[in-house]
Amino acid sequence: MKKFSLSLVVAATLAFSFGGTAQAAANVKHQQECGSCHVAYPPGLLPAASWARIMGGLNKHFGTDASLDESTTRDIGNWLQVNAGSGRRSEEPPQDRISKSNWFVRQHDEVSASTFKRASIGSAANCSACHAGAAKGDFNEHAVRIPK
Ligand code: HEC
Ligand code: HEC
Repeated sequence: MKKFSLSLVVAATLAFSFGGTAQAAANVKHQQECGSCHVAYPPGLLPAASWARIMGGLNKHFGTDASLDESTTRDIGNWLQVNAGSGRRSEEPPQDRISKSNWFVRQHDEVSASTFKRASIGSAANCSACHAGAAKGDFNEHAVRIPK
């Protein structure tokens, strides 16, 4: 796993130096660093201000320490800013939790609190438990599968 991740970084760095974009490299870093404990949440699901607070407080991240080195924090942070949500996704939810956004609560009104707490799910933040395509930003309602 470590080896695989490292080669992705190398590939992204090469792509960058051979004319790729800094965005692509930051996207890879985001998938790696922000996708190890939970799905790497698509940037469009939170507004820029929420991402800024999250990236500014990684040492106290929802009860855990998710600190990164300075340059990785800066690269991922900039990428999140550029790709942050806008329009109906510009609401800053309580605790900067996607799962506390009004739109999220509305879309999940049919899912009970006890369902979210099932051992197979854990919490509403565990998008990929029910949305298999979550890491790719695919939340299509027709592909939802709630585990028992
Ligand atoms: C060491 C593990 C770990 C790492 C690494 C990590 N997180 Fe988290 N993150 C958590 C935990 C734990 C929660 C709370 C999950 C829950 O409530 O079930 C969380 C929650 C979140 C939430 C709120 C989810 C919601 O809607 O309730 C966001 C947004 C988030 N993380 C973003 C990030 C970003 C961005 C990064 C990378 C810079 C990152 N996380 C890296 C552990 C981690
Ligand atoms: C317990 C299972 C479960 C979890 C966990 C979950 N969802 Fe959902 N999600 C659903 C269900 C059920 C629907 C409603 C499908 C429908 O309307 O038929 C839904 C709908 C959605 C929709 C609307 C899709 C559409 O096509 O209209 C979005 C967007 C979405 N979820 C995002 C998320 C995100 C982001 C997370 C994690 C922060 C998450 N979900 C966590 C079950 C879940």
